[in-house]
Amino acid sequence: MKTYESLSNEQFFSIYSAATFRSPNKVWSEEDFLLFLKLSGTFPFALIKPNESILISRILYEKSEIILLEVKEESRRKGCASVLIEQFAYRSTCLGAKDIFLEVAISNTNAINLYIKLGFSKVGLRKNYYFKDSQKEDAYIMRLNLI
Ligand SMILES: CC(C)(COP(=O)(O)OP(=O)(O)OC[C@H]1O[C@@H](n2cnc3c(N)ncnc32)[C@H](O)[C@@H]1OP(=O)(O)O)[C@@H](O)C(=O)NCCC(=O)NCCS
Repeated sequence: MKTYESLSNEQFFSIYSAATFRSPNKVWSEEDFLLFLKLSGTFPFALIKPNESILISRILYEKSEIILLEVKEESRRKGCASVLIEQFAYRSTCLGAKDIFLEVAISNTNAINLYIKLGFSKVGLRKNYYFKDSQKEDAYIMRLNLI
């Protein structure tokens, strides 16, 4: 596995494009994406060819957050997301975080299964959190306790 630290923004963006190509979850513009990568506390992780996958996260003091997770369609069900989350959990623990939080659409059963398998639990609900194609959808807040 290669992490973002050894990649340029452009290389990381090309992985983002590969992972999100044809994906209904591709919601960020190129500009927003590159801007976000520069914010302090942002930690992107990536698996490079052939399993292009990305995880974008923020670590702020005792709280870590998964902002975006995407595995290229052809590479799914091979453990890529699990590896990225485990690497992120390790990094978060080293930096003093006590929990990882994320939001996931309540209809995204694949992702919910993944998070539950890795030890996350549902701790809250955000009403109308997602808005896409004129449709609103609630999101679960999920948490992984790191200590
Ligand atoms: C959700 C997603 C990140 C999973 O990535 P992945 O690399 O395929 O996940 P893994 O191979 O590590 O799967 C680990 C576990 O998650 C669950 N899981 C993952 N995909 C699943 C699916 N399609 N159906 C049911 N369970 C699934 C299973 O429990 C799986 O373990 P198993 O293969 O031993 O049964 C990927 O499908 C994806 O990129 N989806 C689109 C973007 C998205 O929904 N991101 C999450 C937003 S919150």
